[in-house]
Amino acid sequence: MPQPTMQQAPPHILIIGASGGLGKALVEEYLAAGWRVTAWSRHAVPIASASLRQVTVASYWPEDLTVALEQLEPLTGVISTVGVLHNDAFMPEKNLKSINRQQLETSFQVNTIVPLMLLQQLVPKLPRKSPAFWVQLSAKVGSITDNYLGGWYSYRASKAALNMLLKTAAIELQRSHKQLVVAAIHPGTTDTSLSQPFQQRLPADKLYSPVQSAQRIASVIRKLAADDSGKLLHWDGSELPY
Ligand SMILES: NC(=O)c1ccc[n+]([C@@H]2O[C@H](COP(=O)([O-])OP(=O)(O)OC[C@H]3O[C@@H](n4cnc5c(N)ncnc54)[C@H](OP(=O)(O)O)[C@@H]3O)[C@@H](O)[C@H]2O)c1
Repeated sequence: MPQPTMQQAPPHILIIGASGGLGKALVEEYLAAGWRVTAWSRHAVPIASASLRQVTVASYWPEDLTVALEQLEPLTGVISTVGVLHNDAFMPEKNLKSINRQQLETSFQVNTIVPLMLLQQLVPKLPRKSPAFWVQLSAKVGSITDNYLGGWYSYRASKAALNMLLKTAAIELQRSHKQLVVAAIHPGTTDTSLSQPFQQRLPADKLYSPVQSAQRIASVIRKLAADDSGKLLHWDGSELPY
């Protein structure tokens, strides 16, 4: 994947969900690496830099992105961190009894439908003939093969469906954008508000800081090659099973 050089204009990345734990750390990681960064969020992000353009959006649905898309300069890559595990209305389900329609619908909207619609909207901003990437943060618990514990119905299923949609889009886009990599990356359990309610049972060495996880995600992205498109990747760069 492209890296900044002395001769060329810096590459340009869009980070979506930039106010979240991983989103903010990724903005800082790419600014420190010399990229031009556009950050989309529904909230202000407390980072100031001449290389950062912040855009506050009302939502990530296409009808609320018209202006942001018009103003967006051509991209080298996109990282979407958009995702939800819990909110004021729900926590991950422990069993079938606690399944409810609203939680399933919200999880699929945020974890599955929004990321696919974002990809649809942003493909025209990505190059057809040079290396580029579209990365969505996913989760290992969305792997059907790796599901040994059960529970977390909405989150697991919405991330599994996300992985399927990205794989399907990767196959289609390989025809028109031969050097574009569409990938899902599992960041590892990271100390953010998303993982906060589940941290007490974790060994300390299994909870990573946002800075550490952002560095690992950037490292995976640096090593992406065209034949990685459609894969679900662990933060160490290995391929996870669907
Ligand atoms: N933290 C972990 O341990 C962990 C582990 C595995 C996978 N992940 C994945 O990594 C990604 C980032 O997680 P994080 O830990 O940084 O979580 P986070 O701090 O909660 O950030 C999640 C981001 O998703 C967006 N978002 C949340 N609810 C939304 C909604 N209803 N509508 C639209 N956007 C919404 C927010 O964007 P705004 O900036 O617009 O608010 C927010 O910045 C997620 O996709 C998550 O599933 C995290």
